[in-house]
Amino acid sequence: MKRTAVALAHPNIALSKYWGKRAGGGNVPAVPSLSVTLAGLATTTSVTFDDALAADTLRLNGAPAAEGALARATELLDRVREAAGLRARAHVVSTNDFPTASGLASSASGFAALAVAAARAAGLDLPAERVADLARQSSASAARSVFGGFVELDGEVARPVAPPGRIPLEVLVCVTTEAPKAVSSRDGMAVTAAESPYYAGWLETAPRLHAELRAALLAGDLEATCALAERSALAMHASAFAAGVVYVSGATLDALAAVRSLRSEGVSAYATMDAGPHLKCLVHARDAARATERLARVPGVLRVIRAVAGEGARVVDAAAGARSDDPAAEEPPR
Ligand code: PMV
Repeated sequence: MKRTAVALAHPNIALSKYWGKRAGGGNVPAVPSLSVTLAGLATTTSVTFDDALAADTLRLNGAPAAEGALARATELLDRVREAAGLRARAHVVSTNDFPTASGLASSASGFAALAVAAARAAGLDLPAERVADLARQSSASAARSVFGGFVELDGEVARPVAPPGRIPLEVLVCVTTEAPKAVSSRDGMAVTAAESPYYAGWLETAPRLHAELRAALLAGDLEATCALAERSALAMHASAFAAGVVYVSGATLDALAAVRSLRSEGVSAYATMDAGPHLKCLVHARDAARATERLARVPGVLRVIRAVAGEGARVVDAAAGARSDDPAAEEPPR
């Protein structure tokens, strides 16, 4: 028997960052974080559980995935199989419409889409919190992409904090390379925790910035929210820098200078960066066109992708490819 479901998920950008894991395993972040789920960039993933398969398979952006990526997908599929009492192996096909593994958090949308599609294909009807927990164990930031709008991840629990329209925010993703990043976030945080003289400072600062940012967001204060987001990003990167973990490039710093120059002209524009060289400009929607035009002229910025807050991960086809002898084939897509 074959059972297929297709899910779509968007990446998210952390406004208050997490960096570092709690001791004791289980992939639990050391500090709370708050993100915005982005519309307009998406991962679409189909999962087919098939009794005839001898092993899980994974195609990523049209090609067979590397062994490491397949192993991480299998770990998540194993958790779903265990919850559903299922033995069948799965065929997974996943496509991103934005560069993979370059600081645009493709792992977040990837594991969120995989968790949603696998749970549905396995016949599980789980609350979003449980699906987020399945995704979190593979990539902590993926838990946040299960929900739309502004989303908090605190310890093991992801929850929505405010709807997409809470503040008139645009996120301008300044793409500076199509290449995969050199150091994964997983390795970068492990090195930071082990070797940065400033990691203790980060652990002390991050929860405070997070609480202030959460309060500013709930008060509808875009300026304060974005200013705190820039502080969080710079504090995270400072702790990583001190351990020799450097994600920014010359283009990132030139884009940061452009954001600050816009600010000196009275534009509400702030910057954030993740485990890669792309700078994301956080800007009031009324100033987004002006900021985009300025950032597109920065040497080393290949293009600027404009995004607004979007919806959470969802099933887009619950019966795609299901055989007619499969009861799932009778269900209309939800
Ligand atoms: O959960 P991961 O492995 O995708 O790491 C995410 C790390 C940052 O993007 C830098 C910060 C964050 O909170 O998303």
